[in-house]
Amino acid sequence: MANSLYEFGMIGLGVMGRNLLLNMADHGFAVIGFDKDTEKAKALESSATAGTRVKGVVSLEEMISQLQRPRRVMMLVPAGKPVDDVLESLKPLLEPGDIVIDGGNSHFTDTLRRVEYTKTSGFHFMGVGVSGGEQGARTGPSIMPGGDQEAYAHVKPMLEAISAKVEGEPCVAYLGKGAAGHYVKMVHNGIEYAIMQLISESYRLLQSAGLNNDQLHEVYKNWNSGDMQSFLLEITADIFLQNDDKSGQRLIDVILDKAGSKGTGKWTSQEAMDLAVPATIIDTAVSMRTVSAYKDERVLAAKVYAEPKIPVSADTQLFISQVKDALQFATIMCYAQGMAMLHTASEAHDMQIPLPDAVKVWRGGCIIRSALLGTFYKALKETPELPNLLLNKAVADIVKEKEHNMRAVIVQAAQAGLPAAGFMAALSYFDAYRTEKLPTNLVQAQRDYFGAHTYQRIDMPGSFHTTWLHH
Ligand code: 6PG
Repeated sequence: MANSLYEFGMIGLGVMGRNLLLNMADHGFAVIGFDKDTEKAKALESSATAGTRVKGVVSLEEMISQLQRPRRVMMLVPAGKPVDDVLESLKPLLEPGDIVIDGGNSHFTDTLRRVEYTKTSGFHFMGVGVSGGEQGARTGPSIMPGGDQEAYAHVKPMLEAISAKVEGEPCVAYLGKGAAGHYVKMVHNGIEYAIMQLISESYRLLQSAGLNNDQLHEVYKNWNSGDMQSFLLEITADIFLQNDDKSGQRLIDVILDKAGSKGTGKWTSQEAMDLAVPATIIDTAVSMRTVSAYKDERVLAAKVYAEPKIPVSADTQLFISQVKDALQFATIMCYAQGMAMLHTASEAHDMQIPLPDAVKVWRGGCIIRSALLGTFYKALKETPELPNLLLNKAVADIVKEKEHNMRAVIVQAAQAGLPAAGFMAALSYFDAYRTEKLPTNLVQAQRDYFGAHTYQRIDMPGSFHTTWLHH
């Protein structure tokens, strides 16, 4: 009777859950989805491609009873308590060997806790990051699985079939032990926040040079090619052309300048601090979304402090090319910070993340996909344990080529009083990282002066304390 059973089950038929399941059905798998909401269960069936095997049910028990063994179930429900609630309802229904996947944006520490918790029940629990939004889920997302390798083997064929493909390779790979999948997805989102912040700053800079929405569209469209091709630049170019049916204006001009967030960028920053890995552009991006929320205060402050009246370069074409290089330079810094985090976290959390594979799965389907990832993939295939992408020669060559214009843009932004915190964070990170001798010897001296915290010397090993003279 195995053939009449379904091969994969989905809990939560919101647009992401439904689209992933339909994608699976399009690849020949018989799938079943559960949602308490009858409308959503019906919508799953009515939106299925003709000839595919898709069923929607409103009873979890019914779905589980119609799955082949070992049962393969994914949940796509909001992070937090809903995931725990689903696990509780699944516990009495599953058997040893069954596989439960959390495909949402769960915090990696929750995933670790759940992996441990479900061990006693005998079924496998995997945290799997999925990126690409609604469209990606339907046509080819980037998938970041982690956890039990034995369990992964059972879902690998399906995940490979539905994922995006780049140069014939699927954008899914086993990314390590424990909560590695959700960890990699968290860092993906941190990088996403940082790059989005940089693009928004470049928009403000170009606007200050007098570019209108049509011109902005053209600039981003041109940038989105060759070495700079990226999904985020592609959608940015589109955004400037969108008309608003309510006001008749361009939609971008009637959107309030307050950005929300669901917290994954903040998690990345918090974790980077705990890990002691600098992720300054991600930190800045999170803080800038927070600054954006203080709209009322910003309106008041704008009245108190006038903008400096020093314009950016009068040569608009030159300025556009400088901002282009600055954006590429700063974007590389975002990936470098994210990958450095993964490098350290892999060992610190005993996840054994294969770094080349993490980059490989980001090359297609996800929000941060870009041509640069091809360069990073090559770099990490050559040296999988590379602690920082900036140490790779091919990456360094690009950085050195763009560095001059990065500095030119920062000077102009500072003089014109334009907010460019992300760009500045990127350049500051670079300048600190490439500096052999930082001024932190003074910080050590101060710590020892007021707190006897001791210091190390450059000319002999050991810890030293000095009774500092008060002059
Ligand atoms: C993705 C996105 C996705 C989601 C973000 C948005 O990879 O498909 O990252 O997971 O859009 O969580 O995050 P914020 O709401 O925090 O901006």
